[in-house]
Amino acid sequence: MRKLAAGNWKMNGTTAHLTEIAALAATHRAAQVDILICPPATLLAQAAGLAQHSPLMIGAQDCHRSPSGAHTGDISAPMLADAGARAVILGHSERRADHGETSALVADKARAAHAAGLIAVICLGETLAEREGAQTLAVVTEQLRASLPATATAANTVIAYEPVWAIGTGLTPSTAQIAEVHGVLRALLTERLDAAEAAALRLLYGGSVKPANAAGIFAIADVDGALVGGASLTAQDFSPIIAALEAA
Ligand code: PGA
Repeated sequence: MRKLAAGNWKMNGTTAHLTEIAALAATHRAAQVDILICPPATLLAQAAGLAQHSPLMIGAQDCHRSPSGAHTGDISAPMLADAGARAVILGHSERRADHGETSALVADKARAAHAAGLIAVICLGETLAEREGAQTLAVVTEQLRASLPATATAANTVIAYEPVWAIGTGLTPSTAQIAEVHGVLRALLTERLDAAEAAALRLLYGGSVKPANAAGIFAIADVDGALVGGASLTAQDFSPIIAALEAA
């Protein structure tokens, strides 16, 4: 399996920041891992142009469940693909919280992404209250079962485990906590996929991944890469994370 370093720029970045994408594409011309940057939708086409002829993939942060229609302000998966996106983040906790997205909706969006030829990066993870209430495994189990569409394969789907309390906080779970959740997710995948596909589907960890803690996180069993927010905004921070994944 080829590991994946994914960056989520969230609602950050204007054309001035495209230089970061150009720098990553130049630095990682011979990358030993897959690299995905998900800038805001306004930058997709330009970013995809800069990433051409490099191992860098460009992705989006959300899509609508329908391919077209009367949905003011929304963007469909075929539109993202047309703009040069190769992947789309779905069900990020900020969308689940800010926009009330349910796992059933996330599954519909993932199905739409697959139909458009996009990789669906499906996010899940527990809140602090759920962690403290010993609900973590129950929550991620329900989220995985309900968010994964029947169209999922190891090639078109990535799962990102992102504890809500670790996102943007500088806090990370212990090695044992990450290993426990990733082990459960891997086992759950065999409910839907044959053994080889379940073993090959990439499981990312996300939440306060930084250059300083990346190597330790990448050494954990069943961690096949990272989904990185803040530290993906500059090539200076994201490059050492990519390098740590290559060395893992
Ligand atoms: P963070 O965000 O790396 O800034 O914690 C991760 C994410 O939300 O994907």
